[in-house]
Amino acid sequence: MWTRRHMLQASALGTLAPAWLHAADNTSNQPFLVTPYVQLGNAPRHAPQESLLVLWHAGLDSVHWRVEFRAAGTSDWIRCDRVIRTEIALPGLERFGVYEVELRPLPPGSRAEYRVWLNDQAVFQAQAAVRSPSRQPFRCVVMGDVGTGSPQQKQVALQVHRYQPEFLLIPGDFVYNNGRVSEYTTNFFPVYTATEAASDRGAPLLSQCCFLGGRGQHDTEASLATHPDGHAWFYYWSFPLNGPSLSAERRHVYPLSGQTSQQSAFKSAAGARFPQMASYSFDWGNSHWVVLDTWNPHIDWTDPELRAWLQADLKQAQDATWKIVVSYLPPFQSSTQYPQGQKMRVIVDLLEAAGVDLVFSGYAHSYQRTYPLRFVPAPRPAGPVTDPGHLVPGQFTYDQRFDGREHTQADGIIYIVSGCGGNPQLHSPEQTDNPQTWQPFTVRYNASQHQFTALDLHGPRLKLQQISREGAVLDELTLTKPSAPAN
Ligand SMILES: [Fe+2]
Repeated sequence: MWTRRHMLQASALGTLAPAWLHAADNTSNQPFLVTPYVQLGNAPRHAPQESLLVLWHAGLDSVHWRVEFRAAGTSDWIRCDRVIRTEIALPGLERFGVYEVELRPLPPGSRAEYRVWLNDQAVFQAQAAVRSPSRQPFRCVVMGDVGTGSPQQKQVALQVHRYQPEFLLIPGDFVYNNGRVSEYTTNFFPVYTATEAASDRGAPLLSQCCFLGGRGQHDTEASLATHPDGHAWFYYWSFPLNGPSLSAERRHVYPLSGQTSQQSAFKSAAGARFPQMASYSFDWGNSHWVVLDTWNPHIDWTDPELRAWLQADLKQAQDATWKIVVSYLPPFQSSTQYPQGQKMRVIVDLLEAAGVDLVFSGYAHSYQRTYPLRFVPAPRPAGPVTDPGHLVPGQFTYDQRFDGREHTQADGIIYIVSGCGGNPQLHSPEQTDNPQTWQPFTVRYNASQHQFTALDLHGPRLKLQQISREGAVLDELTLTKPSAPAN
């Protein structure tokens, strides 16, 4: 049986053509548990013809689904009847299906129109961004620590929708508190599948732009013994599967716990995405992004195999103008609420050698920005570094000439914490604009309001804006490469 919440959640038919509005009004016939959303899928690299995945959640009734799509502005619809259904059958939860269709081919940098048909009736229609090719400017958004269903989360979603990003990346903490199916249902999907953008509802982001991201503490640490519907991150997202191969012994993998039957149910639903999807990389426009599994207290980024993967991944991306790493656990941050947590400093040497420009994190519910900096650990950590609270002291070099306005070429990596996407609890707001409380590498700190990071990448010029839930610009900087023309 569908609950009333499911009915409300399924009423995302505002984008349908008038001829279908009769069906939209008839909520007793709503077919979706979660309305369609787009994903990049296992497509890490640019292709001459791009693709998108469309996923939705629905019951397991014997019905015929199909999807039609076309590049916006073209006339002919392409029909897809190959719908893959993954059954989510978990103890204590009514069974349902995650449905998936691949839209291919799509011109790079276009917008894809798609509509989902149930039997002989179109029941959903939307338009989504297709990945831009390397020569095409694009916009994207980074914001972490989101899924609580809070008013602030909805207000931020509205502002993100106004910015119209091609993709939205969440460094971690998609949902609180335990990454559960039931929490996605209440705290996540309703906000980002709202039928229209409104400050008290959220916005229809999921149907229009790909969500990407990594696992935060609250996406990672569930035990199937106590939360059999935990680790839903692996059910609902389809990211590239090009991360480091994890050994048969499951080293570096967060243990599922729980009974054998609970683990089997999880693995059956997660398929190849578990545990492989925990780290990955992808290209978008002229940028290369690496998303890492970091908070997981079982992963050791001093392991030579993991380091070799990271090094090779960044090396093959050497032609990308911008290289950006996503590490939910911040290597450098100033929140007094988290004085430790320096575990990910062990990869900084690889990032600097590869010319990484930016590192985005979450975890600390705040906005923080560092100088462009270089770091050498002293002493270099010997042996495994797995505990998120591990301390890694060292020596710093700061580029204090860079100001993001007049001087825009950075000598070093800028580390950004963007963890104010929706969780109502912000960390250490008393540190906002209070430099005496910051570490020497920090140049901005704001935990006074909810906000997100907007990026505009245009050739050798990258513009970053930190935008509040009310639309105010809280911070702004420009980064350029030597080939960028002067202002
Ligand atoms: Fe969080």
